[in-house]
Amino acid sequence: MRALIALLLTLTFLTTAHAQEAEAPAPDRSATGGAQSLEDILARQRGETVDNSFRSDAVGNPDSAAGMANQLGTLGGSSDPELWRALRFGSADITSTYRGPAATTLVQDGGMKWLTFREGPLSTYGAYLMGGTLVLLALFYLLRGRIRIDGEKTGRRIERFKAIERFGHWLLAGSFILLGITGLITLFGRKVLIPAFGHEAFSTIAIASKWVHNNVSWAFMIALVMIFVMWVIHNLPDRTDINWLLKGGGIFTKGHPPAKKFNAGQKLIFWSVILLGGSISVSGLALLFPFEMNMFAATFAKMNAWGISGALGLGELPTVLAPHQEMQFAQLWHAIVSFVLMAIVLAHIYIGSVGMEGAYDAMGSGQVEEQWAKEHHSLWVEEVQAKQKAAPESATPAE
Ligand code: HEM
Repeated sequence: MRALIALLLTLTFLTTAHAQEAEAPAPDRSATGGAQSLEDILARQRGETVDNSFRSDAVGNPDSAAGMANQLGTLGGSSDPELWRALRFGSADITSTYRGPAATTLVQDGGMKWLTFREGPLSTYGAYLMGGTLVLLALFYLLRGRIRIDGEKTGRRIERFKAIERFGHWLLAGSFILLGITGLITLFGRKVLIPAFGHEAFSTIAIASKWVHNNVSWAFMIALVMIFVMWVIHNLPDRTDINWLLKGGGIFTKGHPPAKKFNAGQKLIFWSVILLGGSISVSGLALLFPFEMNMFAATFAKMNAWGISGALGLGELPTVLAPHQEMQFAQLWHAIVSFVLMAIVLAHIYIGSVGMEGAYDAMGSGQVEEQWAKEHHSLWVEEVQAKQKAAPESATPAE
């Protein structure tokens, strides 16, 4: 008997589920005089796409208002719902005493989508990416161990980076780490810090975090320009990179492929830092100066026109965005690109410190062990030594 009831119940649920999956008929809007119905609202809440043209097209025609004798009738020729529709679809004639940007946009509907994406996939996958990178680095350390200097150390040192280069690097590194930590506090603080420390403490942490994030961003941007100017010449791709990449940088094999001042792996890090860091800076500026830099509608229009959005399976991207939606996209882009760069930089920090014997000195004292340099940057060492040999001759004063 029990089994029979269970079977019947299962069948009932299956039928309901099936009925829900079936295409919903167009809702009957006669009860609302053609205005949106509860069914429309529920459909939108279920995440279904509701064709809004019955609302956006129903603006500016007094005849479309429900009759006065109607239960939901209006008080005159044009109705309040019509005014709200005009506000909602940006066609209302609005004047505002506040002259700032976005002052006349009274309604925008991107907020919920943005919030659910930020709280949902952005936070979840961002956390996976950070955690996954740390796990992979730990595994790499366990499998490969520290990359040692293979040959006998010579005791001689070569200058690798001048003081100004090290200053630029540490300004970049220090600011990036602060921005990373304060950014993560902003994204995860409510979920992680409030349960741990309470609202009061989190409020102080969040305010301090925001102040640091906003102000330290300038140091990051200055440092980004500095390292670009100082190192771009050494990071242009050349033939040695192909060989280096084919040999996987010699990470799992004996011997090291020849490299100039920066090997192909470092060039990838450099360009990631410049391009992703540049993109983070631009989207950060858009957030720092709200509504002043609207880039997404124009970018989406180009992506549609060049077929990029189609190729990526994103369909037709919106090309008309409310100023607030521009900000929402700027925030999401800023966070996504930052997560990717943080993962890359974690790998860089690992290899520049515990991961490789002798590497840290390059940015510490600026002087590296000659044997380390010969193993990792053989072509660069040859270049430096050739210059050193040539220097005393050219420096000899004429008698
Ligand atoms: C505390 C953490 C860090 C350490 C220990 C560290 C260490 C190093 C070292 C030793 C080098 C020179 C490598 C060589 O001589 O060939 C270097 C280069 C570099 N660092 Fe860092 N770094 C850190 C953080 C960062 C951060 C946060 C960034 C960027 C956001 C960054 C960007 C770069 C770039 C672009 C280079 C040149 C390309 C390369 O060598 O990969 N570093 N770093």
